[in-house]
Amino acid sequence: MNTGIPFLPFPHRHLLGIEGLSPDEITLLLDRSESYVEQNRQVDKKQALLRGRTVINLFFENSTRTRTSFELAGKRLGGDVINMSVQASSIKKGETLIDTAMTLTAMHPDVLVVRHPESGAVQLLAEKVDGAVINAGDGSHEHPTQALLDALTIRRRKGRLQGLVVAICGDILHSRVARSNIALLNIMGARVRVVAPRTLLPAEIERLGVEVFHDMAGGLKEVDIVMMLRLQTERFHGSFVPSIREYFHFFGLDYAKLAAAKPDALIMHPGPMNRGVEIDTAVADDIDRSAIRQQVEMGVAVRMACLEVLTRNLSDAAPAK
Ligand code: NCD
Repeated sequence: MNTGIPFLPFPHRHLLGIEGLSPDEITLLLDRSESYVEQNRQVDKKQALLRGRTVINLFFENSTRTRTSFELAGKRLGGDVINMSVQASSIKKGETLIDTAMTLTAMHPDVLVVRHPESGAVQLLAEKVDGAVINAGDGSHEHPTQALLDALTIRRRKGRLQGLVVAICGDILHSRVARSNIALLNIMGARVRVVAPRTLLPAEIERLGVEVFHDMAGGLKEVDIVMMLRLQTERFHGSFVPSIREYFHFFGLDYAKLAAAKPDALIMHPGPMNRGVEIDTAVADDIDRSAIRQQVEMGVAVRMACLEVLTRNLSDAAPAK
């Protein structure tokens, strides 16, 4: 598609995280995504950019929206997409990961989209395969396409990222979404706050360049964006919150707590939501203030842009092995 946007090089073979990307590279990905937002609203959503290419979605952990949107993204660009789900509980860690990678490499995929419950596993796999690897979430480490789709949503609603005050609230400790968003927002010149009980914050979180709050009233004061996170109980080893009711009382987003934010503050959540746990249902569904549905829409466009830039890089270096 000729968008009139000049195509700048993206000097990375893989997309493993936000850390290490420059502001220009992030802007490039967001600008490319913009054109796909329009394409995805047309009746004919398909083009041939990835014709002949194979994308494998390799998911060692459950996913609905991320896997579906990568599948749609690959198909709308004209590529062949296959989905492989592997139950993490049934695999022998490490060895099986590499075995799977070697088996798949023999089938010459151009792009591997990988989600894995262990932080660092996707990077390990990227070192072993020929094609491009996109991290679709590794443990509590990174989830770069989520941060990019969040940034695209914010940029479209607020016109910029620079100078905005963003509060990321809830289970920061287990959240790869939080880590990727903190990195991206800092690179792009936003101011990031985290709001959470002490038990749900990693040690030395301040070193990531955030302001820390332990109460919603202080943390949401005058913010432009309220980003809520799911309480990721499947990653809990032990007890982190006294009870769900108490958690909602102190940290669940409802209109009373939202009143501290700017009147036009945007509400976001990566999904899946636990209604009544980290977010009140009326707030989540508020058509004026909540961008949660738009985040899902932006997800497809962002993943199309990522597939585009990474496969362009592969063109001149088809694997010979
Ligand atoms: C997030 C994830 O898997 O990290 N979800 C997503 O990708 N849409 C957040 C979560 O699971 O809470």
